[in-house]
Amino acid sequence: MIPANPSVSGPRTASPVKRLAGRLPAPADKSVSHRALMFSALADGTSRISNLLESADVTATARAVAALGADVRRDGPGAWTVTGRGAWTSPAGPLDLGNAGTGVRLLMGAAARFDLEAVFTGDESLSARPMARVLDPLALMGVKSRSRDGRLPVRLTGSRALRAIDYAPPVASAQVKSAILMAGLGADGETTVREAHATRGHTETMAPLYGADMSARADGAGLVARVRGGRVLTPHDLAVPGDPSSAAFAIAAALITPDSDVTLTGVMDNPARNGLYAVLRDMGADLTLTPAGTRAGETLVDISARSGMLTGIEVAADRAPSMIDEYPILSVIAAFAEGATVMKGLAELRAKESDRLAASAAMLAANGVRIELGEDYLVVHGCGAGGVPGGGRVETRHDHRLAMSGLVMGLGAREPVSVDDAAMIATSYPGFFDDMAALGADIA
Ligand code: S3P
Repeated sequence: MIPANPSVSGPRTASPVKRLAGRLPAPADKSVSHRALMFSALADGTSRISNLLESADVTATARAVAALGADVRRDGPGAWTVTGRGAWTSPAGPLDLGNAGTGVRLLMGAAARFDLEAVFTGDESLSARPMARVLDPLALMGVKSRSRDGRLPVRLTGSRALRAIDYAPPVASAQVKSAILMAGLGADGETTVREAHATRGHTETMAPLYGADMSARADGAGLVARVRGGRVLTPHDLAVPGDPSSAAFAIAAALITPDSDVTLTGVMDNPARNGLYAVLRDMGADLTLTPAGTRAGETLVDISARSGMLTGIEVAADRAPSMIDEYPILSVIAAFAEGATVMKGLAELRAKESDRLAASAAMLAANGVRIELGEDYLVVHGCGAGGVPGGGRVETRHDHRLAMSGLVMGLGAREPVSVDDAAMIATSYPGFFDDMAALGADIA
């Protein structure tokens, strides 16, 4: 039985607090959780996953792989058993991936190499996001699909006779790379994906653990990933590492709230994911990273953050792939810094769960922060010692990261900050409210 996610819905307000303190395990990583379910469902046999993120996005993927023929069982908190049969079959009904871009895009790639037909759907936010970036390369491999002008719903007809391709995606996207590699697991030869800017490599790291012939190598600022098709995947047991993108909210809260000292343990320290932490260091943040072992082929660290005045900096465009999900919360941190923070190369933010560039700018403007917004850049004029006024209401636009960023801002601002709807937080970080309360946050 795959549990439904209880979610906190409706407006919420975060009020200024005197200090935040404590030590918490980082929530499990969303990207790794999706992939662990998919690879386990592709394998022939039984895999056990521990510390799986039980968020709405990930349980949507669990339901989808069950509908595609795997046996999926929850044994206890974070503990799941997945038995795959080495091949997927047509699901009885549409696969509803909810809000999950990673879920839908990687599953389309993974399903494409089987003899099946599947319809993919999602919520309002996911249905507005571009799918052609995945369907176009899949078409080159021989996959047939019908979509609503490149958006969901998508009807996909898989094939056991896919052609291997050599492809350079026009956008820096781990989801695009991964969808092609997933399809390449079944293609007739070697499929290659060439990235001009390296994106997160969780697919390439995890696939060999399940016996796939897949690897990646750095190529200047970019990366070349390859997979040879034809192997039947073997089961594997793994534990999911902590999520640096989710950990960023408590870390940010500690940086902007006076006298705070917060530690998040077991955070994945991956160069394709830790751009925010490098930027925070450049802004003068008091961060300590302590090695904390490895999990599922990933290095872990405990991250401690103490509050202090930060300085605005220029964040170059080539940093974007390593911190693509962190711009809303970085824009909040920048609002508290002294001086301007200039963030460039942000066009991809407009294709996320919401137009995150416009939504981040609106969030700050509604709370008295001066910003300049361009097609692909954002300048935040930090309030510094004067403090962030706050007092505004943030429109979250079905976007979990906007909701969490707005609430974090309220903890350090002069006046409380409200968000219109907290429901989407459950898509990536169902423990957000409990974790923030444990650190001393006032969110009601
Ligand atoms: C993800 C890749 C990123 C990121 C998303 C998770 C993944 O998306 O924004 O939250 O797990 O591969 P893009 O590949 O569209 O940049």
